[in-house]
Amino acid sequence: MKTNVNLQPYNSFGFNTVAKYFVEINDIQELEVLITTDVFKQEKHLVLSGGNNVLFQNDVFDGLVIFINTKGIEILTEDENEIIVRAQAGEDWPDFVKFTVCKGWHGLENLAHIPGKVGAAPVQNIGAYGIELKDSFLQCEAFELETGKTKVFGKEGCRFGYRESIFKNELKGQFIITSVDFLLKKNAPLHLDYGNIKAYLEQNGIEKPTLLQLHDAICAIRDAKLPDVKQIGSAGSFFKNPVIEKAQFEALQKEFPNIPHYDEPNGKVKVPAGWLIEQAGWKGWRNEHVGVYDKQALVLVHYGGGNGHDIVELARKIQDSVEAKFGIRISPEVNFV
Ligand code: EPU
Repeated sequence: MKTNVNLQPYNSFGFNTVAKYFVEINDIQELEVLITTDVFKQEKHLVLSGGNNVLFQNDVFDGLVIFINTKGIEILTEDENEIIVRAQAGEDWPDFVKFTVCKGWHGLENLAHIPGKVGAAPVQNIGAYGIELKDSFLQCEAFELETGKTKVFGKEGCRFGYRESIFKNELKGQFIITSVDFLLKKNAPLHLDYGNIKAYLEQNGIEKPTLLQLHDAICAIRDAKLPDVKQIGSAGSFFKNPVIEKAQFEALQKEFPNIPHYDEPNGKVKVPAGWLIEQAGWKGWRNEHVGVYDKQALVLVHYGGGNGHDIVELARKIQDSVEAKFGIRISPEVNFV
């Protein structure tokens, strides 16, 4: 266990928050020892994997950071149609997706190039290009910090929703996901319906993409829209796309006929927060330290020299101005610490 560790390399915003205590877990058995220590018992704790969806609001984290860095990928079962593959929580998500795609396994290709670790993926049910993690999720194992016991959570038990799961809500801070099992297919139709994908493939003269070509197309589309966290600090989409009542949407559509929208199964309507933020005039706005990414208004960025307060302040101003213009209060998808 280390003390006073700068978390700059461990959070994708790149803020210099200092953790009072920090421990790196390379083997799950180390967790069993950790929970018996005085530091664990006395300090508040935060589980960190990729740190890609976290906003440190303060310069000090007055507690224990548990950094999960366990590795390993194994095939559990395989037949001519399907495969069940287990990945340990500390595996890099984009590398794992690429690995499955190169093997010819279908299911995760649309989730290519999302920065983060495997263990964090179910927590917010990561999603992109018409697919969510839950679509290929079979189950995960999680370590209960209070008891030291391991519990298996199936799909139902995870209560997945749009950027939601039980681990972000009712069980927040109580479990550490240690491994995730995915059910992948050896043959399946590709999901090309998301607007950008077809346009990109057309532009590049690809008529019938292979699994790998689709994976690579998604990487290219993401690169064109989203900042590279190695160059510019960010946490991907900062806000969730709001889901509103049909009546409210229809009233808005009268005033803003071009408003993009997606019908939800429950009769509600999802509106892209990026569009609302852009219309409110924020796209490309910046001060010395932070700003709104100029290619995707849903992404707040840290150009350096700033801190969590700067992002919190900017987020609040954006929420207020979107609410004043559209009557919708957008909410963050990033975890505030
Ligand atoms: N739009 C704008 N201005 C912007 C951004 C978007 O007008 O600055 C409009 C676009 O024109 C489009 C609509 O908003 O009509 C949707 O935009 P986009 O396809 O870029 O997707 P998004 O809804 O903004 C979501 C996810 C992303 C994911 C993409 C692609 C959320 C919160 N975000 O963004 O996820 O990559 O779809 O599937 O649902 C992430 O979670 O970190 C993330 C990047």
